[in-house]
Amino acid sequence: MEIRAFRIEQTPDGPRGRLVRMPASELTPGEVQVRVLWSAVNYKDALAGTGRAPILRRYPLNGGIDAAGIVTASTDPRFRAGDRVVVTGCGLSETLDGGYGERLNAPAGCVVHLPEGLTLREAAAIGTAGFTVALALQRLEAVGLTPAHGPFIVTGATGGVGMLAVDILSRVGFEVVAVTGKTQHAELLRTLGAAEVLDRRTVDPGSRPLERARWGGALDTVGGELLAWLTRTVRPWGAIAAVGLAGGSELRTTVMPFILRGISLLGVSSANCPEAWRAHVWERLAGPLRPRHLDRIVTGTVALDGLPEVFEALLAGAHVGRTLVRVAPGDEG
Ligand SMILES: NC(=O)c1ccc[n+]([C@@H]2O[C@H](COP(=O)([O-])OP(=O)(O)OC[C@H]3O[C@@H](n4cnc5c(N)ncnc54)[C@H](OP(=O)(O)O)[C@@H]3O)[C@@H](O)[C@H]2O)c1
Repeated sequence: MEIRAFRIEQTPDGPRGRLVRMPASELTPGEVQVRVLWSAVNYKDALAGTGRAPILRRYPLNGGIDAAGIVTASTDPRFRAGDRVVVTGCGLSETLDGGYGERLNAPAGCVVHLPEGLTLREAAAIGTAGFTVALALQRLEAVGLTPAHGPFIVTGATGGVGMLAVDILSRVGFEVVAVTGKTQHAELLRTLGAAEVLDRRTVDPGSRPLERARWGGALDTVGGELLAWLTRTVRPWGAIAAVGLAGGSELRTTVMPFILRGISLLGVSSANCPEAWRAHVWERLAGPLRPRHLDRIVTGTVALDGLPEVFEALLAGAHVGRTLVRVAPGDEG
């Protein structure tokens, strides 16, 4: 059987992705065979698909760190043909063929039954971005952070992770302050639940080890200077979830916020999140954390051949929200 896939290959100019037809028998192996209907575009997909960063650890592989679809066969008794499932991270588009192919084989431990209340399309819209927000919230809750600590700041707010963070965190009671470089979308961010919108370009990072304490907590997708500023401005016993590096991977700060304010800096790594957490996090995303504005957060849908254009927009910082990928036609539920 032949499938269509956006496959990333090593070329003389570095890794490049392109649309191909390939035998399904050449897919990387896994216990659960999935007919993929939906995927989405994440920052990491753009890095991998353009070769802008070395995401793949073997070549060639189909891109796409998210997949939502229907099981066609399984050697693991937890799954049966016809089950609706979602797979995020877990080696997809790193060591395994990912969601940008009409079929994939996944290790059973990575596959989650679609929770009651979500469609496959909605699961892909949430995808790694929403899963990461829920995981970040779980980490923040574990150190005792609550809305009572004060305003919660989200950076890179118009990005996929950012918009889902604004939606989900405001839903659970945080007073969300959205930081964006695209203030033309301030109204959209308010619709998602932001109480305030800050222009990233007007943020004065300051230079002292401790600046005026303002934020109860933070979810940072940007890294670099902005994350350093957050460490200096989070209130005593507040916490920051470090999620991304859209603005840089460096972090220059001092130990002062940690030893004088007791703040926490928490890492979030969705790709290799412990297996036991996956289903629980998805249950929360279908229930109390269910985003209320997915229709506003999904800003476009492309087929596999539309991926390169979306990748460029993402890497230029010009993309807004989540773009869905319609991998194959089929039942949406
Ligand atoms: N740790 C994990 O498990 C995990 C999971 C998912 C994503 N991530 C990371 O989280 C980040 C966001 O991912 P995403 O999929 O949401 O990407 P995205 O949709 O492209 O969003 C990134 C956002 O960051 C802001 N931004 C872009 N370039 C910037 C720059 N040079 N300086 C400051 N801000 C900039 C922009 O928002 P504004 O214009 O609104 O400021 C942009 O929309 C990426 O670094 C990604 O790798 C990590």
